[in-house]
Amino acid sequence: MTRSAERLVIAIDGPSASGKGTIANRLAAHFGLPHLDTGLLYRAVGWIAARTGRNPAKIAAELNSGDLADPILRGDEAGQEGSKVAAIPEVRANLLKFQKEFASKEGGAVLDGRDIGTVICPDAPVKLFVTASPESRAERRYQELRARGVDTIKPRVLAEMAERDRRDSERAAAPLKAAPDAWLLDTSDMDADAAFAAALAFIERKGFRSPGP
Ligand code: C5P
Repeated sequence: MTRSAERLVIAIDGPSASGKGTIANRLAAHFGLPHLDTGLLYRAVGWIAARTGRNPAKIAAELNSGDLADPILRGDEAGQEGSKVAAIPEVRANLLKFQKEFASKEGGAVLDGRDIGTVICPDAPVKLFVTASPESRAERRYQELRARGVDTIKPRVLAEMAERDRRDSERAAAPLKAAPDAWLLDTSDMDADAAFAAALAFIERKGFRSPGP
């Protein structure tokens, strides 16, 4: 079975440092699709709100692509601020239209986040839920931070990650959870190449093929 004529929307969810962002990036390059890292939207809203004291819902309503370019948004502080504003229903509502429009691009799209398979793209033909043990996720994040020159210790990285996981999973508005029809991919014992290969094999089993050169 090939589904080459069908619009390919790949919805990827999972906790931080599970490997979902790398998988999303590589799948987008492989299939020639645009990719939206939706966490960046929440990070930008949280970071701007923390810095300016403005209303997060208003910031979300007025967010533009220029707000997403700051490299500081990739840091853990922005991640924590993003996770705080992500629990506010009005913030989520004001970011919904942009994400849904991105997902309805003619040629298809790849989106990664926490609620892509459940809220943003419930009809996506491909849904992945990427997880890994807290220890291996913390180890990855620790190595990533060290590589960026951030001075930290592993127990602190693990504790901050646990705090963010708890906030993301326990909130009432679109909590982090796998869609019932998502494929679970545990990357604890995989490197980036193995995780990408596993995700690609799953998508090909569903009948989707890259358009080729
Ligand atoms: O994935 P990332 O770590 O960049 O996400 C930052 C925060 O944004 C998450 O901790 C989560 O609270 C929030 N988020 C969300 N829904 C998404 C993407 C991210 O609530 N679709």
